[in-house]
Amino acid sequence: MVQKYVYGTPFETEAVTARIDRAKGGSVCGEVSLDDGFCFTCALEDDDVVYGLGEANRGINKRGFCYVSDCTDTPHHTEDLQSFYGAHNFIVVSGSRTFGLFVDYPSKLTFDIGFTRMDRLSITCERADLYLYVIDGETPYDIVKQFRRMIGRSYIPPKFAFGFGQSRWGYRTKEDFREVAEGYRKNHIPIDMIYMDIDYMQDYKDFTLNEENFPDFPAFVREIKEQQIRLIPIIDAGVKIEDGYEVYEEGVKNGYFCKREDGSDFVAAVWPGYTHFPDVLNPEARQWFGDKYKLLTDQGIEGFWNDMNEPAIFYTPEGVREAAEKVQAFFRNPAGEVSNMDVDVLVEGLANNEKDYASFYHQVNGQRVRHDKVHNLFGYNMTRAAGEAFERLDPEKRFLMFSRSSYVGMHRYGGIWMGDNMSWWSHILLNLRMLPSLNMCGFLYTGADLGGFNADASRDLVLRWMALGVFTPLMRNHSSMGTREQECFRFERVEDFRHIVEVRYRLLPYLYSEYMKAALEDDMYAKPLAFVYPQDAHAVQVEDQLILGDEIMIAPVYTQNAKGRYVYLPEEMMFVKFMPDGSICQEMLPAGHHYVDIALNEVPLFIRKGKCIPVAETAEYVEALDTTDMKMIGYPGSSYTLYEDDGIHKDYDNPANRRILKS
Ligand code: NOJ
Repeated sequence: MVQKYVYGTPFETEAVTARIDRAKGGSVCGEVSLDDGFCFTCALEDDDVVYGLGEANRGINKRGFCYVSDCTDTPHHTEDLQSFYGAHNFIVVSGSRTFGLFVDYPSKLTFDIGFTRMDRLSITCERADLYLYVIDGETPYDIVKQFRRMIGRSYIPPKFAFGFGQSRWGYRTKEDFREVAEGYRKNHIPIDMIYMDIDYMQDYKDFTLNEENFPDFPAFVREIKEQQIRLIPIIDAGVKIEDGYEVYEEGVKNGYFCKREDGSDFVAAVWPGYTHFPDVLNPEARQWFGDKYKLLTDQGIEGFWNDMNEPAIFYTPEGVREAAEKVQAFFRNPAGEVSNMDVDVLVEGLANNEKDYASFYHQVNGQRVRHDKVHNLFGYNMTRAAGEAFERLDPEKRFLMFSRSSYVGMHRYGGIWMGDNMSWWSHILLNLRMLPSLNMCGFLYTGADLGGFNADASRDLVLRWMALGVFTPLMRNHSSMGTREQECFRFERVEDFRHIVEVRYRLLPYLYSEYMKAALEDDMYAKPLAFVYPQDAHAVQVEDQLILGDEIMIAPVYTQNAKGRYVYLPEEMMFVKFMPDGSICQEMLPAGHHYVDIALNEVPLFIRKGKCIPVAETAEYVEALDTTDMKMIGYPGSSYTLYEDDGIHKDYDNPANRRILKS
């Protein structure tokens, strides 16, 4: 049961696709005050748990912190970080009362979940123009499913996107890409994708190729594809200002870029230097920008990642001017108004500055809208531009698409990756915890930069992180330039890496099947234990294990030098280990707490009581997987319904896609 409350004049974000009428009465489950912007408050009992918020910091239980929905380009994923790249304003309160709240508001919004006062939840924003959806249900899981039905079907990528992908910021030439392809193929480590970061472009211009390095790009795409590897280029939000550059000139001519108050095109510096932002909130400009992806699909490209679309701003000319004036004032009079301490803040504050976000405008259906009022919708609509364009280009074909910034609604057009994490052990855990929260908000195709983006990675960290990555729909190793190279073949004893990636491919028919069922049934792929064992008081507290699909539980190792870990089993389960020699160990464990040994080169999982899963022979790429005669592991006498399709087209409802396998 969903109640919709309308405050003021909300902006139509199109996050919700279901038709829901305005509530005629009912209660919002708390108090709403409109005295100073919007403020929702309600009491939290000691044992209440709060779920949701998608791409957000800290635990699966979100209690005890203040989260701010404000899409931000942020490389510092420390424990005190309040905003990531996405804004997913959905929470579920579970306990003395159980209800869900979705605040459809496209600007900065704060969720104080028992932080200022441990016994209070408050949601606040500056303007009382929003939709508040209150969802009633028996359990948090039931509420999540209702929410998911409201917001429409999650994005479904092509099957190759479930293979392993290698990325690094710094691959530049054909030779760089060939070296990676060869590193994997020669070592027989399975791989399906190599990602192209910004250096493939000519001067960081979207939809261009570096002329010297890629004189005949279609031939190069073919060359790599002959090795059964797809190249996946990045697209950035900012369009370089440069005479003669077609995308720039067309955008200016047609008025498709975001404007300053005086009507001139807004200028922001990102990688290419000065750029304009395509006004993706304007349907006409969105269509124009989306159609540009064709420049690359025409050359054989089948997938993309959208970056810097919060949108990230390094600085604006106005910001630099203002800072320079203040610095000069400081030099003229060091004891004056601009203090010693302000000087570095001035320069630091140039990036992603609120003042800049309040200085440009979108054109939405004849209305001019100031960017800061709809800030959280930019990444969503950039990715929507691409998604809608793919639909026009080939309505039957699936393209790979994921984005850095997002809002609820974007989950229909693409996945997300979790941004610039670090090669830190604590970030393995953060990765695990974000998964179910993102699933609650519709984002199923997701994963983190395995091995960590910033900082140097150690071999054991990459192995442990990859062993979690085996289970994340997006399995990509990505790192920043200047850090230690962390492709699987760069480390000693490459066979350990090969084994872990091979396990991904062996499990891929099962993982794909569970992903597809979750997407087609508005369900979750990764769930907190509490959603499956709601009567188990201990399961509610488990923050480092997840249920995947309907059959398995995962419990990765995320501490350095550990030779295993403690796990909690809410019921009897089959403990399964994929051993480095290709064998599979199975051991029945009773419900309760256990310490299990897990070596660096082993991949563990647990099969729930009475269930079984298929395991294929490994393959070096997705298309080569043979699913005709798979081994069944788990409980003898059980059965599993496998979903399988061609992985290319959208014939999802064909009954032939499901077949029953018996163990
Ligand atoms: C920021 C992205 O988060 C990162 O993944 C990428 O490598 C850099 N931009 C460079 O494009």
